[in-house]
Amino acid sequence: MSKKTWFITGASRGMGVDFAKAALAAGHAVVASGRESDVVSKAVGQSNDLLAVTLDVTRRGDAEAAVRAAVDRFGRIDVLVNNAASFYAGYFEELTPEQIERQLATSLIGSMNVTRAFLPVMRKQRSGHIISISSAAGLVGFEFCTAYVASKFGLEGWMESLHAEVAPFGITTTIVNPGFFRTELLTEKSTNYAEPSIEDYDERRAKQLEFWKAQNGQQTGDPAKLARALFMIGSEEPPPRRFIAGADAIALAEQKVADLKAQIDAYRDLSTSLALDLEPGARAM
Ligand SMILES: NC(=O)c1ccc[n+]([C@@H]2O[C@H](COP(=O)([O-])OP(=O)(O)OC[C@H]3O[C@@H](n4cnc5c(N)ncnc54)[C@H](OP(=O)(O)O)[C@@H]3O)[C@@H](O)[C@H]2O)c1
Repeated sequence: MSKKTWFITGASRGMGVDFAKAALAAGHAVVASGRESDVVSKAVGQSNDLLAVTLDVTRRGDAEAAVRAAVDRFGRIDVLVNNAASFYAGYFEELTPEQIERQLATSLIGSMNVTRAFLPVMRKQRSGHIISISSAAGLVGFEFCTAYVASKFGLEGWMESLHAEVAPFGITTTIVNPGFFRTELLTEKSTNYAEPSIEDYDERRAKQLEFWKAQNGQQTGDPAKLARALFMIGSEEPPPRRFIAGADAIALAEQKVADLKAQIDAYRDLSTSLALDLEPGARAM
C-alpha cells in the first residue's frame, strides 16, 4: 500500500483520535486537527509522521491555515476526513434558533469550510478522497434530534452533489453512516440539551433524556474497528461512495429503503399521472 497523507478533523477526542492512530499505524502521514492542537498531540501521541494543527471547523481562516501547514509539511493531501461534530438534542420547539445555527455551523457548514479550503489542492493534484462522517441519522429522522438530523441530511445532499462536481478532477467522495459507537459524543462535552420550556413535551422529553443519557457508555460500536474499516475502504480503487457502519445502522438503512419503496408503491399511479396532457407531436421540457 502506498503512503498517503490523511487530514482528520475533530481529532482531540472520540473516533477522530482512532482514525489518526489507525492511519499512523498503517504507515501513512497524518495531519490531525482540533480546536486545540496540544490536546490533539496528547490524544494521538508522538510520531514523525504526525502534524497536529489548530482547526475550529467553524472558522474559515483556520481551515485555510491548516491546509497551508499540511501542504508545507507533507507536500500533498490525499484523504480528507470531515469528522468533527457536536450534538444538539431536544424538541424542535424547545431548541433555540441559535442552538440550531450552532449545530449546522459545526456539523454541516464546518465540513464545507474545510472542504472548500482543500479542494484547490486536490484539483491541482488531480486526485483526492473526501470522506465525511455522517450518521444513521443522515438516513433516518428521529424524534428529539431535528437539529442534528437536519445537519446530517444536509451533509449527505451536499456530498452526493459535490461528488458529481469534482469526480472529473480525479477526486472521489465517501459518506460514512455510523450507528452507535462508544465515543464521547453523548457526554456533556459534546451533547447540548435544549432547555425545557413547553409543558406539552414534559412526559416525552423525560423519556428521551433518559434514553440518550442511558446510551452514553453503552454504545456497541468499537471506534477502533471503525477506524480500521475506514482504512480498508480508503485504500480501495475506487473507494465506495457510501459505507454504512454497524449492524444497527444497516438495520435502519434497510428499513429506510423498505419505507421509501412502500411510499413509492402506495401512490405510483397518482404520481405517474401528473404529466402535462400534450398535443400529439408537442415536446415536454
Ligand atoms: N459516536 C457515535 O455513536 C456516532 C454515531 C453516528 C455518527 N457519529 C459522528 O461521528 C463523528 C465523530 O463523533 P464522535 O462520536 O467521535 O464524537 P466525540 O467523541 O464527541 O468527538 C467529537 C470531536 O469533534 C470535535 N469538534 C466539535 N466541535 C468542533 C469544532 N467546531 N471544530 C473542530 N472540532 C470540533 C471535538 O473537539 P473538542 O474536543 O474541541 O470538543 C471532538 O474532537 C461526528 O461527525 C458524529 O456526528 C458518531
